[in-house]
Amino acid sequence: MKLTLKVWRQSGPKEKGRLVAYVLDDVSPDQSFLEMLDDLNRVLVLKGEEPVVFEHDCREGICGCCGLMINGQAHGPVRGTTVCQLHMRNFKDGDTIVIEPWRAKGFPVIKDLMVDRSAFDRIIEAGGYVSVNTGGIPDANAIPIRKEDADLAMDAAACIGCGACVASCPNASAMLFVGAKISQYALLPQGQVERVARALNMVAAMDREGFGNCSNVAECEASCPKLITLSNIQRMYREHVKASWKYAPREAREAAG
Ligand code: FES
Repeated sequence: MKLTLKVWRQSGPKEKGRLVAYVLDDVSPDQSFLEMLDDLNRVLVLKGEEPVVFEHDCREGICGCCGLMINGQAHGPVRGTTVCQLHMRNFKDGDTIVIEPWRAKGFPVIKDLMVDRSAFDRIIEAGGYVSVNTGGIPDANAIPIRKEDADLAMDAAACIGCGACVASCPNASAMLFVGAKISQYALLPQGQVERVARALNMVAAMDREGFGNCSNVAECEASCPKLITLSNIQRMYREHVKASWKYAPREAREAAG
């Protein structure tokens, strides 16, 4: 396949960026999107030009590093798929592909396609730890957990923190991410000890980092490569309201009956 790539080039966080067009011949439909970018970089290096900076690690859809906007869609055109798992067979010979970094105040561009996602690390850090002695491997049935809860917790824990939810939301809201991280513990017995503090602290950290609010656009759910559902945002709201109520002044609780 012959493709025209319009790639966002930006030499630093404070520099002005622009889309630069590159033509790439001989792209195999069996290549992954990142392998195609590797090829682009090989061509650029051989020509003595600076390669395109992009983030990646596992290339197996589990680390969350490889987020890119591809033709305006977070992680590209295939639902439930990270950029590293996206294959070039999803594009056609002669296509023009626009490749940009995540665009959100909370994710400033470091260089080219790479953004600083440390805001997510700080939100996770605010959530703290679970003060349950994990010890050795426990017996599978030592703590009975309802199948429904275990399934929901595992679905929430599938979030890889890539930031596609923020990048695709018109409000740059991080609520799908935070909702998933709060849910994965709130649903399990091991997460009960810090349940209240976790909800309060993670939501406060999310607000501090400058992420927007949810206005039910649902682009986050549509673009999530791990198919995290909006129900996690609803659970986050419930957890936060209950936690705030628990810490509300006694007068306020008494006044409300
Ligand atoms: S490189 Fe790890 S999820 Fe894509």
